[in-house]
Amino acid sequence: MAATAVVLAAALGGGLLLIARRFWAAAGKAKRSVAAAAAAGQMEGKTVIITGANSGLGRAAAAELLRQHARVIMACRDRGRAEEAARELRAELGLCSRGGGECRGELLVRELDLASLRSVRSFCQQVLQEEPRLDVLINNAGIFQCPYMKTEDGFEMQFGVNHLGHFLLTNLLLGLLKSSAPSRIVVVSSKLYKYGEINFDDLNSELSYNKSFAYSRSKLANILFTRELARRLESTGVTINVLHPGIVRTNLGRHIHIPLLARPLFTLVSWAFFKSPLEGAQTSIYLASSPEVEGVSGKYFGDCKEEQLLPKGTDDLVARKLWDISEVMVGLLK
Ligand SMILES: NC(=O)c1ccc[n+]([C@@H]2O[C@H](COP(=O)([O-])OP(=O)(O)OC[C@H]3O[C@@H](n4cnc5c(N)ncnc54)[C@H](OP(=O)(O)O)[C@@H]3O)[C@@H](O)[C@H]2O)c1
Ligand SMILES: *[C@@H]1O[C@H](CO)[C@@H](O)[C@H](O)[C@H]1NC(C)=O
Repeated sequence: MAATAVVLAAALGGGLLLIARRFWAAAGKAKRSVAAAAAAGQMEGKTVIITGANSGLGRAAAAELLRQHARVIMACRDRGRAEEAARELRAELGLCSRGGGECRGELLVRELDLASLRSVRSFCQQVLQEEPRLDVLINNAGIFQCPYMKTEDGFEMQFGVNHLGHFLLTNLLLGLLKSSAPSRIVVVSSKLYKYGEINFDDLNSELSYNKSFAYSRSKLANILFTRELARRLESTGVTINVLHPGIVRTNLGRHIHIPLLARPLFTLVSWAFFKSPLEGAQTSIYLASSPEVEGVSGKYFGDCKEEQLLPKGTDDLVARKLWDISEVMVGLLK
């Protein structure tokens, strides 16, 4: 009886603390959105592609850049899910379904499955045919700790989607980004890169598969890709930066099994301690649109500030070798 009371009191106290913390965070968020409002309209006339824009961080970034009047292309693998997200976003923001008149900001859906090089190529072909310019590319889509799976082209899924798909996508769009310069590439990585390593002897995890390692490896690849491409893009007017968003309440954990009984607790913890998608997307939005980072390239950001990388994130020899191998893997070089 007494024990139950203690547990109840502890739960109640904890709950109140969490609620207090949430109010605190909400107050901070209100301040930030005032800052964002000042920048409304600053993406007028700019075209932005966001991969994985139907969910989580990508969806939040799409909403904010639309508020800044960008033309946003949602590059998504499932047309149904993407059209639904687009409908919701248009309603939320009061956008017209067709541009023109009083309507500012424009939202388009295009199919892109990063687990298929064929799909990446046809997506880019359509963009190159239809879009006269491209100001920002946000490589945001990602898959996290899935069971062992292969992409259409036989790559380990996390390396294939998070790194190789985006590698080909970016390379095929580089010409358009250059002709639209000054333009920007934003890459969404993760702090978990620190547990990864580019093990060139088994990039497809055929010898052994560890889903945490494979995720970390793909996120380290995002960082090395950014640094190598920044070097190649010097003096082109195209910048590329990489970020970690923090821990954010999104659908990323879909492959993680949480026992039924632990789910309410997990929901409570994530509600109290994880960032909301809009909070998590702040650094992506900042790197995509802020005048403060005009001309900045090859850097790693968190919470809208530059951060230092571990030596494995700045190994330029590994970055170069990864670039060369990736070119062969995606068929850019035979
Ligand atoms: N959430 C976090 O705490 C956290 C922390 C660090 C880094 N990140 C990074 O943040 C990025 C965004 O993730 P999120 O948290 O917003 O997760 P999310 O809600 O699961 O969104 C991921 C997006 O990627 C898309 N995607 C997955 N596989 C794809 C494929 N083969 N082709 C095209 N799109 C694909 C998903 O499409 P579907 O909806 O169709 O599946 C979805 O739109 C990821 O790169 C992730 O690594 C997130
Ligand atoms: C899997 O990889 C993670 C991250 O690199 C590591 O911490 C863990 O020990 C590995 N697990 C096994 C079973 O090797």
